Amino acid sequence: MNILGLGVDIESCGRFKDRDEFFINRLFTKKEIEYCKSFKNSAEHFAGRFCAKEACIKALNDTSIPFRKMEILNSDDGMPNLVVDEEKYQKYKFLVSISHTNDYATATVIVTI
Ligand SMILES: CC(C)(COP(=O)(O)OP(=O)(O)OC[C@H]1O[C@@H](n2cnc3c(N)ncnc32)[C@H](O)[C@@H]1OP(=O)(O)O)[C@@H](O)C(=O)NCCC(=O)NCCS
Repeated sequence: MNILGLGVDIESCGRFKDRDEFFINRLFTKKEIEYCKSFKNSAEHFAGRFCAKEACIKALNDTSIPFRKMEILNSDDGMPNLVVDEEKYQKYKFLVSISHTNDYATATVIVTI
Protein backbone atom coordinates (compact mmCIF):
# COMPACT_ATOMS: atom_id res chain seq x y z
CA MET A 1 0.00 0.00 0.00
CA ASN A 2 1.37 3.42 -0.98
CA ILE A 3 0.30 6.56 0.85
CA LEU A 4 -0.36 9.39 -1.61
CA GLY A 5 -1.67 12.11 0.65
CA LEU A 6 -2.95 13.25 4.02
CA GLY A 7 -5.57 15.87 4.90
CA VAL A 8 -7.19 17.18 8.07
CA ASP A 9 -9.98 19.67 8.83
CA ILE A 10 -11.82 21.13 11.81
CA GLU A 11 -15.17 22.97 11.78
CA SER A 12 -17.55 24.56 14.21
CA CYS A 13 -20.72 22.42 14.49
CA GLY A 14 -22.78 25.62 14.85
CA ARG A 15 -22.26 26.23 11.14
CA PHE A 16 -24.49 23.19 10.43
CA LYS A 17 -27.24 23.84 12.98
CA ASP A 18 -30.77 24.59 11.67
CA ARG A 19 -29.58 25.17 8.08
CA ASP A 20 -32.01 25.21 5.19
CA GLU A 21 -32.34 22.37 2.68
CA PHE A 22 -30.56 24.33 -0.05
CA PHE A 23 -27.38 24.57 2.06
CA ILE A 24 -27.53 20.91 3.17
CA ASN A 25 -28.40 19.52 -0.30
CA ARG A 26 -25.51 21.40 -1.89
CA LEU A 27 -22.97 19.66 0.36
CA PHE A 28 -24.33 16.21 1.18
CA THR A 29 -25.80 13.20 -0.65
CA LYS A 30 -29.27 11.85 0.03
CA LYS A 31 -27.89 8.93 2.05
CA GLU A 32 -25.61 11.19 4.09
CA ILE A 33 -28.54 13.49 4.89
CA GLU A 34 -30.66 10.50 5.91
CA TYR A 35 -27.84 9.27 8.20
CA CYS A 36 -27.16 12.62 9.86
CA LYS A 37 -30.85 13.41 10.36
CA SER A 38 -31.32 10.10 12.16
CA PHE A 39 -29.48 11.66 15.14
CA LYS A 40 -30.78 14.35 17.48
CA ASN A 41 -27.39 16.09 17.25
CA SER A 42 -27.44 16.04 13.43
CA ALA A 43 -25.30 19.20 13.15
CA GLU A 44 -22.35 17.29 14.66
CA HIS A 45 -22.69 14.51 12.11
CA PHE A 46 -23.04 16.98 9.23
CA ALA A 47 -19.99 18.89 10.48
CA GLY A 48 -17.92 15.69 10.76
CA ARG A 49 -18.84 14.71 7.20
CA PHE A 50 -18.02 18.18 5.93
CA CYS A 51 -14.60 17.94 7.63
CA ALA A 52 -13.98 14.59 5.96
CA LYS A 53 -14.74 16.12 2.55
CA GLU A 54 -12.43 19.08 3.16
CA ALA A 55 -9.74 16.69 4.43
CA CYS A 56 -10.19 14.59 1.27
CA ILE A 57 -9.71 17.68 -0.92
CA LYS A 58 -6.51 18.44 0.98
CA ALA A 59 -5.26 14.86 0.80
CA LEU A 60 -5.82 14.78 -2.99
CA ASN A 61 -4.69 18.39 -3.45
CA ASP A 62 -7.68 18.83 -5.76
CA THR A 63 -10.08 21.69 -5.04
CA SER A 64 -12.19 20.92 -8.11
CA ILE A 65 -14.08 17.93 -6.62
CA PRO A 66 -17.76 18.78 -6.06
CA PHE A 67 -18.82 18.08 -2.47
CA ARG A 68 -21.57 15.71 -3.52
CA LYS A 69 -19.09 13.59 -5.47
CA MET A 70 -17.60 12.61 -2.10
CA GLU A 71 -19.80 10.38 0.06
CA ILE A 72 -19.12 9.19 3.61
CA LEU A 73 -21.33 6.34 4.80
CA ASN A 74 -20.93 4.17 7.87
CA SER A 75 -20.59 0.41 8.18
CA ASP A 76 -22.94 -1.41 10.54
CA ASP A 77 -20.34 -1.02 13.32
CA GLY A 78 -20.23 2.76 12.77
CA MET A 79 -16.92 2.93 10.90
CA PRO A 80 -16.98 5.66 8.22
CA ASN A 81 -16.11 4.86 4.58
CA LEU A 82 -15.31 7.52 2.00
CA VAL A 83 -15.96 7.06 -1.72
CA VAL A 84 -15.05 9.64 -4.38
CA ASP A 85 -17.22 9.38 -7.47
CA GLU A 86 -14.64 10.61 -10.00
CA GLU A 87 -13.18 8.41 -12.72
CA LYS A 88 -9.59 9.52 -12.06
CA TYR A 89 -9.80 8.43 -8.39
CA GLN A 90 -11.39 5.00 -8.89
CA LYS A 91 -8.15 3.17 -8.01
CA TYR A 92 -7.59 5.14 -4.82
CA LYS A 93 -8.58 3.97 -1.35
CA PHE A 94 -9.45 6.44 1.39
CA LEU A 95 -8.90 5.98 5.10
CA VAL A 96 -11.09 8.34 7.11
CA SER A 97 -11.57 9.05 10.79
CA ILE A 98 -14.16 11.49 12.21
CA SER A 99 -14.71 12.88 15.70
CA HIS A 100 -17.13 15.49 17.08
CA THR A 101 -18.23 17.24 20.25
CA ASN A 102 -21.08 19.73 20.78
CA ASP A 103 -18.88 22.52 19.50
CA TYR A 104 -16.37 21.15 17.01
CA ALA A 105 -15.94 18.34 14.50
CA THR A 106 -12.73 17.10 12.96
CA ALA A 107 -11.71 14.51 10.37
CA THR A 108 -8.52 13.09 8.92
CA VAL A 109 -8.22 11.43 5.53
CA ILE A 110 -5.34 9.37 4.12
CA VAL A 111 -5.28 8.54 0.40
CA THR A 112 -3.69 5.24 -0.59
CA ILE A 113 -3.23 3.23 -3.74
C1 LIG B 1 -16.80 4.25 18.29
C2 LIG B 1 -16.27 5.19 19.36
C3 LIG B 1 -14.75 5.04 19.46
C4 LIG B 1 -16.63 6.64 18.95
O1 LIG B 1 -16.05 7.56 19.84
P1 LIG B 1 -16.90 8.72 20.51
O2 LIG B 1 -15.99 9.50 21.38
O3 LIG B 1 -18.15 8.15 21.08
O4 LIG B 1 -17.39 9.64 19.31
P2 LIG B 1 -16.53 10.58 18.33
O5 LIG B 1 -17.26 11.85 18.18
O6 LIG B 1 -15.10 10.66 18.70
O7 LIG B 1 -16.61 9.76 16.98
C5 LIG B 1 -17.79 9.65 16.27
C6 LIG B 1 -17.41 9.13 14.92
O8 LIG B 1 -16.64 7.92 15.07
C7 LIG B 1 -16.78 7.16 13.89
N1 LIG B 1 -16.98 5.76 14.30
C8 LIG B 1 -18.06 5.22 14.90
N2 LIG B 1 -17.85 3.90 15.08
C9 LIG B 1 -16.62 3.61 14.58
C10 LIG B 1 -15.85 2.42 14.48
N3 LIG B 1 -16.31 1.24 14.91
N4 LIG B 1 -14.63 2.49 13.91
C11 LIG B 1 -14.16 3.68 13.44
N5 LIG B 1 -14.85 4.84 13.51
C12 LIG B 1 -16.06 4.80 14.08
C13 LIG B 1 -17.97 7.72 13.12
O9 LIG B 1 -17.46 8.36 11.97
C14 LIG B 1 -18.59 8.72 14.08
O10 LIG B 1 -19.11 9.87 13.47
P3 LIG B 1 -20.36 9.79 12.48
O11 LIG B 1 -21.39 8.93 13.17
O12 LIG B 1 -20.80 11.21 12.34
O13 LIG B 1 -19.86 9.19 11.19
C15 LIG B 1 -16.92 4.91 20.74
O14 LIG B 1 -18.30 5.17 20.68
C16 LIG B 1 -16.70 3.49 21.25
O15 LIG B 1 -17.42 2.56 20.88
N6 LIG B 1 -15.71 3.28 22.10
C17 LIG B 1 -15.44 1.94 22.59
C18 LIG B 1 -15.07 1.98 24.00
C19 LIG B 1 -16.19 2.40 24.86
O16 LIG B 1 -17.34 2.10 24.61
N7 LIG B 1 -15.84 3.09 25.91
C20 LIG B 1 -16.77 3.57 26.85
C21 LIG B 1 -16.12 3.46 28.16
S1 LIG B 1 -16.95 4.49 29.29
